Amino acid sequence: MSDKELLYQSIAWAAEREPVITRRFYEILFERYPVVKPLFGRNSGDAQARMLQDAIVAALDHIEDGQWLSDTLGAIGVKHLTYGVTDEMYPWVGECLIATLAEHCGDRWTPEHQAAWGNVYGALTDLALAGANRARAAQA
Ligand code: HEM
Repeated sequence: MSDKELLYQSIAWAAEREPVITRRFYEILFERYPVVKPLFGRNSGDAQARMLQDAIVAALDHIEDGQWLSDTLGAIGVKHLTYGVTDEMYPWVGECLIATLAEHCGDRWTPEHQAAWGNVYGALTDLALAGANRARAAQA
């Protein structure tokens, strides 16, 4: 099974437990990394988590379109600077997102799912941070 198939499969399984992996994601994130809590609030938590999930699904739909990925994730990275998101927070969010999915998938979750999610989240993070770094360099 390809990474993409593993990702869609685990999203579908997780959706059986929680249609959008919101509530549990925030519980895990705020429990493990309470320092990020004050960053959220402009939108309701549910709306924000839906945006994160939608952004990931949109990225999966464009996984072969390097230009789209670079432009879209680069812009997200720039916007996140204005939210006060720091580079070190990216792995925290990935860890909690993957932990939520693993919990929802239960026994069906495999090391292959874990690896596929690690790969895709890592790639999206690299693109977001590249955008943020370009913006920081332009300001310096
Ligand atoms: C590659 C990883 C990520 C993706 C794809 C992503 C995606 C998004 C999207 C699509 C939005 C809403 C619209 C926008 O601002 O463009 C958003 C908002 C936000 N994200 Fe992320 N995000 C990521 C990582 C993070 C990280 C690491 C943090 C740190 C805690 C974070 C915190 C926030 C906050 C605070 C908002 C605004 C929420 C509000 O308005 O209350 N995100 N994110």
